[in-house]
Amino acid sequence: MACLVIVGGFYGDEGKGKIVAYLAKKECPLIAVRGGVGPNAGHTFSYEGKTHKVRMLPSAALNPSTRLMIGAGVLIDPKILSNEISEFSASNRTLIDSQSGVIEKIHIERDIEAEHLKNNIGTTGTGTGPANSDRALRSLKIAKDVPELIPYIGDVSGAVNEAIDNGEKVLVEGTQGTFLSLYHGGYPYVTSKDVTASGICSDIGIGPKRVDDVLIVFKAYVTRVGKGPLEGEISSDDAKARGWLEYGSVTGRQRRASPFDTGLARRAIKLNGATQIAITKLDILFPETAGITDFSKLPQNAKNFVEDVERESGLKVVLLGTGTELDQIIDRRA
Ligand code: IMP
Ligand code: MG
Repeated sequence: MACLVIVGGFYGDEGKGKIVAYLAKKECPLIAVRGGVGPNAGHTFSYEGKTHKVRMLPSAALNPSTRLMIGAGVLIDPKILSNEISEFSASNRTLIDSQSGVIEKIHIERDIEAEHLKNNIGTTGTGTGPANSDRALRSLKIAKDVPELIPYIGDVSGAVNEAIDNGEKVLVEGTQGTFLSLYHGGYPYVTSKDVTASGICSDIGIGPKRVDDVLIVFKAYVTRVGKGPLEGEISSDDAKARGWLEYGSVTGRQRRASPFDTGLARRAIKLNGATQIAITKLDILFPETAGITDFSKLPQNAKNFVEDVERESGLKVVLLGTGTELDQIIDRRA
């Protein structure tokens, strides 16, 4: 596995949390490190019947031997971070970069109150856009300015690069999804940063040649929250009938839905330089696949779906989610 970057291929909510949590359990990486925007993301994973959600720590939090890091490009909400550190008893293994930006109350107020952000864009209201705008203006506080963050600060880029030098396994967790990228998504209906694989690496401070694989995560159908175009969008009644109705894990808003979009997937693969694919929620598209862990046991229609994606993309689908629990997965890595 060496250095593996995991990114979302659509509009976020592809199920990256489960994929990262599974790989962390299976591979026991020395480091899991989060890039991306900040607490506007909510990554969910279920283990032994209990569902966990993280908005700041990497989704490898269940693995007591993995060091949990947050890169310099990521915004920290100190309260959310501190709650997660206690939930996962992670105070001895959390490292945030001393230059990570810090969200304050004023940023959340600006996010919620600004007509443009709230009504035209439909942001998550977590303060990330206003904080990144202050960062661009060079007036944002960074982690080393905030006493409650001092116990956790350090040099994340240094630690990650050293681990890679030593041949250790490193999991790099992206957030949001390719088409929410400030540069490559459908501007202005996007988040406040680039969230493709290159952007995620930049958040952490690793160069492009340090990465061994880029695993792009797609869901078996597409969802998006907030405003902006969604090709092939179906009605919410239709989504409900198909079992595709979902609610945002940060905002609780109903997600819009459309069928799997091969053209969008191909574009995402290019934008990220993806080398491998994971598809989550196969069991929602094909209920008979629930809990299956062996590819050969899939019904033919589900196999065809996966093989079509492989043919269209030229990449192998290495992981297939067939349920919410971590071990409800088909692992086809060599
Ligand atoms: P912001 O990132 O809160 O500024 O929101 C900008 C847009 O990105 C809105 O459409 C949000 O719904 C969307 N967004 C931001 N983060 C996520 C995420 O983690 N999952 C899904 N949508 C997101
Ligand atoms: Mg999410």
